[in-house]
Amino acid sequence: MYKYIIKGGNKLQGNTYVSGSKNASLPILAATIISGKTTKLYNVPDIEDVKTTIEILKHLGCKVERNGNKVIINSKDANKTNITDDLMRKLRSSVIIVGAIISRFKEATFSYPGGCDIGARPIDLHLKNFERIGIKILENGRYIECKCDKIESKNIELDFPSVGATENIILASIIGEHEVIINNAAKEPEIVDLANFLNKMGAKVFGAGSNIIKVVGVTNLKDVSYKIMPDRIEAGTLLIAGAITGGNISITNAIPRHISPLLSKLTESGCDIKIDKNTILLNARKRLVGVDIKTMPYPGFPTDLQPQFSTLLTLSDGISIITENIFENRFKFMQEIQRMGAKATIHGKTMIIKGVRKLHSADVESSDLRGGASLVLAGLAAKGITKVSKLEYLMRGYENLDKKLNDIGANIIREEGD
Ligand code: UD1
Repeated sequence: MYKYIIKGGNKLQGNTYVSGSKNASLPILAATIISGKTTKLYNVPDIEDVKTTIEILKHLGCKVERNGNKVIINSKDANKTNITDDLMRKLRSSVIIVGAIISRFKEATFSYPGGCDIGARPIDLHLKNFERIGIKILENGRYIECKCDKIESKNIELDFPSVGATENIILASIIGEHEVIINNAAKEPEIVDLANFLNKMGAKVFGAGSNIIKVVGVTNLKDVSYKIMPDRIEAGTLLIAGAITGGNISITNAIPRHISPLLSKLTESGCDIKIDKNTILLNARKRLVGVDIKTMPYPGFPTDLQPQFSTLLTLSDGISIITENIFENRFKFMQEIQRMGAKATIHGKTMIIKGVRKLHSADVESSDLRGGASLVLAGLAAKGITKVSKLEYLMRGYENLDKKLNDIGANIIREEGD
C-alpha cells in the first residue's frame, strides 16, 4: 500500500519533464509479440501497468530485459496463446494483447480484463469487430476463446471510437493477405504512435490519427528500435499542479498540440501559457476563474484529465459545469475532495462546482488512477498535512510523480506499507 503525505500550500516553481506515455507503451509492448523478432523500446515509463504488461509478455514466452526506461523484447520463442485470469485482472489493456496474439498465432484465450473502476468498461466493441474480420469467438464460462484461419478483408464501422477496440483491431490485422478498413476509428495520439511503431516494424497501417484507418496485411516483420511519445496526461497533470498552487512552472519533453484543449481551458481560466517547441510554460499568479468542460474523444477535452481539472475548478472563482461523456462513474474522487471543503453537486454525467477560496487538509483515499492524481493536487493546494492513501492506483500510471513535484517545490513524502 502506497501513501503520500503532503504538506500543502507551496507555490510550485521551476522546470520538470514529461515521461514516456503509458497509453502508448501498453499497445506497443503488446505489438512486440507479433514480429517474433527483437524490439528495443526507449522512453518506456517505469510504472506498474508497464511491469504487468512485461509480466504478461514473459508468461507468453518472450524474453524481456529492462534497463531504466529502455526495454528489449525478444518474442522469437513466444509460444503461449492464453492469458491467465490473474494477469488479465491486473489491467484493462491486457485485452489489447489479445489482438497481438491473434495476429501471430491465429488463436487466443483470455478472461474479462480488470482496470480502474470508472465505469462498466465492456469489451463488446472489441469482440463484435473481431467477429466481423473473421475471428470466431467462443465464450466458455469465465474464458473467451478466439480462433481464425485467416483475417478477412472487411470494411467495418465502430459504434463508438473506442481507443482500445481500434488498437485491438489494428493489432489483430497486422499479419495476412487481407485489407481491413476501420471507420469511426479513435484518433488519439497514442494510436498514431502505435501505427508509427508498427510501420517501422514493417506493417502497413494507413490513416492513423484520422477516423478511417486501413490495415493491409503483411507476411514479414523486422527488428526495430522505437522511442515512445511523451505522456500527454502526465503533462496535463503537472501543468494543473502548477496552476492549482498559483505557481510558475515549465515542463519539457511535452507535445503541446496533444493537450491543446487543456491549454485553452487553462488560458480561459486565467493562466498565462507560453509554448516554446516542446516546452510549456505556465504562470498562474492570480486566483483562477471557473470554466465549463465537456469530455470528448480526441481531439476533445480528455476524460483522463477531467478529475484533475475539476479539482482545480473547486478553487476557482464562480460556478463551473463539468460534463463527463466517456465514463459513467468518473466523479467518485469528488467525494474525497468534498471532505477537504470543495463544493460540488453531481447529477448523472454532470457535476456543478461552486469554487471556494481554500481547501483544508484531510486524510483521503484514492479509488482510481486519475482520481488519485486529483487528490494529490488537492493536497498540494490545501494548507496543512493531507494524507492520500491507496495510491497503488497512481503508481500504475505516473512515473515518480512525488519526485517530480518535489523538484519544483512540493513537499511530499511517499510511504509504503500499511
Ligand atoms: C483508453 C485509455 C484510457 C482513456 C480511454 C478514453 C489506454 C490504456 N487507456 O481506455 O486511459 O480514459 O481510452 O480516452 O489507452 N466501450 C464500450 N465497449 C467496448 C469498449 C469501450 O462500450 O468494447 C466504451 C467504454 O465503456 C467507455 C468508452 O467506450 O465508455 C471509451 O472507452 P475506450 O475508448 O475503449 O477506452 P479504453 O481503451 O478502455
